[in-house]
Amino acid sequence: AGTLGSAAAAKGRYFGAAVSAQYLGEAGYVSTLDREFGSVTPENEMKWDAVEATRGTFAFGPADRIVAHAQGRGMSVRGHTLVWHSQLPDWVAGLGASDLRSAMNHHITQVMQHYKGKVLAWDVVNEAFQDGGSGARRSSPFQDKLGNGFIEEAFRTARAADPAAKLCYNDYNTDGVNAKSNAVYAMVKDFKARGVPIDCVGFQSHFNSASPVPADYRANLQRFADLGVDVQITELDIEGSGSAQATAYGNVVGACLAVSRCTGITVWGVTDKYSWRSAGTPLLFDGSYTKKPAYDAVLAALGGT
Ligand code: G3I
Repeated sequence: AGTLGSAAAAKGRYFGAAVSAQYLGEAGYVSTLDREFGSVTPENEMKWDAVEATRGTFAFGPADRIVAHAQGRGMSVRGHTLVWHSQLPDWVAGLGASDLRSAMNHHITQVMQHYKGKVLAWDVVNEAFQDGGSGARRSSPFQDKLGNGFIEEAFRTARAADPAAKLCYNDYNTDGVNAKSNAVYAMVKDFKARGVPIDCVGFQSHFNSASPVPADYRANLQRFADLGVDVQITELDIEGSGSAQATAYGNVVGACLAVSRCTGITVWGVTDKYSWRSAGTPLLFDGSYTKKPAYDAVLAALGGT
């Protein structure tokens, strides 16, 4: 039988998983990861609070473990995430505007240069827009102190730090056409028009009964691709079970395959037992690393056997 990674590769895509360094000593976790996935995203180890808990002091150990594991097995790496309002050390939020600007640019530069040549795509900025119908920017120290321009500045700094890395904007609840995705669309369109460096848009794609896979998911991915960026499904998980969950997963894979610039899919974890979601068994392997119907649906949708 094929594997998720090999089936995706046959379609010119990667199929990856979010990985936690704390589980790299668990046999079932590692064997499933190594057999099935061709890309990894550190789930928490590259976040600001993990790598620069105190200003100017960088701790890359746990993330290095994940990157080394991936490199040793020919897996690509997604870097997650450089500028985000959450998991931000208190010292960052306390800075004045000019200090914050230099701290942001220093953080981006130091982290990206540490992983230069090892990270295929970075979530440069994560979740900068509000939920709900306004399409407004989310309040954060960056937005509130640096204004709308902080996103452009972060991308320009990132391009200078590692010109070979793909630079992505990443968000959630942007999977269908709505006020939030329209605001992201307008930003990306403006960036492309002005030559602001951006290479991809990440769609986290966290789905559940309250927010199912939208009917216009494929159309939304396509309209972003038509702006001249890659689209990536970056944190896929779908609460549920059985055939309904399997069908939903198959639809997501089908949408990505139908959009030529959809370069890959990452599920947000290897096994249900370590999912960030407290309930809902949202992933492709159960707590015993047994393949679920959703796994079979994904492999079939990828054209695997
Ligand atoms: O590492 C500490 C540990 O030292 C401490 O003992 C423990 C108890 O306080 O907390 C541990 O940190 C936790 C961390 O995960 C690592 O396990 C944090 O409390 C916890 O908040 C954190 O949750 C992560 C969450 O992002 C917040 O950063 C989830 O694992 C992770 O799946 C989730 O992922 C996010 C994406 O980054 C962005 N998109 C949404 C997605 C889901 O929220």
